[in-house]
Amino acid sequence: MAPLPRAHRKVASPRVVSVEDMRPLARRRLPKAVFDYLDGGAEGEVTLRENCRAFEDLTFRPRQAVAVARTDLRTRALGQDLALPFMLAPVGYTRMMHRDGEAAAARAAGKAGTGYCLSTISGHPLEDVKAATAGPVFFQLYLVGGRAASEAVLERARKAGYAGLLVTIDTPVAGMRERDHRNGMKELISGGLLDKVPFLPNVLSHPRWLASFLLDGGLRPLPNVVVPGQGPLALLDVGAALAETTVTWADFTWIRDCWRGPIVAKGVLSGDDARRAVDAGAVAVSVSNHGGRQLDSVSASIRALPEVVAAVGGQVEVWLDGGVRRGPDIVKALCLGANVVLCGRAYAYGMAAAGEAGVTRAIEILRADVDRTLRLLGCRSVAELDRSYVDVPKAWELSKG
Ligand SMILES: Cc1cc2nc3c(=O)[nH]c(=O)nc-3n(C[C@H](O)[C@H](O)[C@H](O)COP(=O)(O)O)c2cc1C
Repeated sequence: MAPLPRAHRKVASPRVVSVEDMRPLARRRLPKAVFDYLDGGAEGEVTLRENCRAFEDLTFRPRQAVAVARTDLRTRALGQDLALPFMLAPVGYTRMMHRDGEAAAARAAGKAGTGYCLSTISGHPLEDVKAATAGPVFFQLYLVGGRAASEAVLERARKAGYAGLLVTIDTPVAGMRERDHRNGMKELISGGLLDKVPFLPNVLSHPRWLASFLLDGGLRPLPNVVVPGQGPLALLDVGAALAETTVTWADFTWIRDCWRGPIVAKGVLSGDDARRAVDAGAVAVSVSNHGGRQLDSVSASIRALPEVVAAVGGQVEVWLDGGVRRGPDIVKALCLGANVVLCGRAYAYGMAAAGEAGVTRAIEILRADVDRTLRLLGCRSVAELDRSYVDVPKAWELSKG
């Protein structure tokens, strides 16, 4: 048998057995500023931690002595067939984590038969990302660069064949990501040379990453934020980008007119907002707190899921992201009524550790986890998962509907 390429060896068992095993590899390869951008959350990082911890409050109720010869992991999202019940979430600045960035993540998703969501703050042109995968791709919209830039990118996404639009509604301003401030993310991305100097030593101490980043063109402009008549917007730090991205329910009207395809409201945490999203024309809501990166101390995504599921009453699809690090987390979300789950850091750690090979490994681990969990539960397919397979804490049942 031919030896595995180096990137694949790096993330192979026994070094990488769980998704969390890729986190230290990512930490080692990236400068601190980039790793902390990926890993960190807002303020005290309460929601970041709680997103993961809250899954532990749900316990499984397996059906024993049931033979499951084959599991069926297929699901559908916005009319697209997926081989897996999870997809890859939009992660901004992916090309900073690895030069192969968004195109490689989309390719890995496509090879596994699942979908990829491309952030507006991405480093590869959306057309290249679409061409990299046979799987469905969804575009995530931030209103960076003004309405004309958004209209232009929606037109491009429509022409390129994007299957849906995620409108992120939880970024009226950027969350206070303290690690990014301490690491000088803003100065490194958009400051002058003198502003950068205090923050350069750590970047220079990662020569491999730095060489790859510079060979890839360094701080490139944003190919998917093109202001008509002015060209692609210069790369800006996340604080500056999100300061421009306020979306209101009223904006859904022109976004709908422009896009004309299915819209997912990403960032819903209450039944009220879920119903508002449906009224605004969304055909799916994504329960999300932006991975704990925006308003800290909001509830964990999984904790908010039952209220949202009850509020929409099957009228629209319910997606969920936040804190998913293992397949059983995905299964628990499906049991509580999510149609599909998005993974963010779980694949981004893989991307940062080993590019496409790392993303492929993350997907493979999560897929095997979901398959094994179904067998251990005595359940044949993700379509059959429901509340009867989990015990939900009493307090969760008392949420407002
Ligand atoms: C590094 C990073 C960048 C992100 N960039 C975006 C983005 O550009 N647009 C967006 O809607 N969500 C963004 N998110 C949020 C993710 O789409 C998703 O909601 C979150 O990662 C889920 O939590 P998890 O990382 O615990 O899986 C980002 C998350 C991370 C970790």
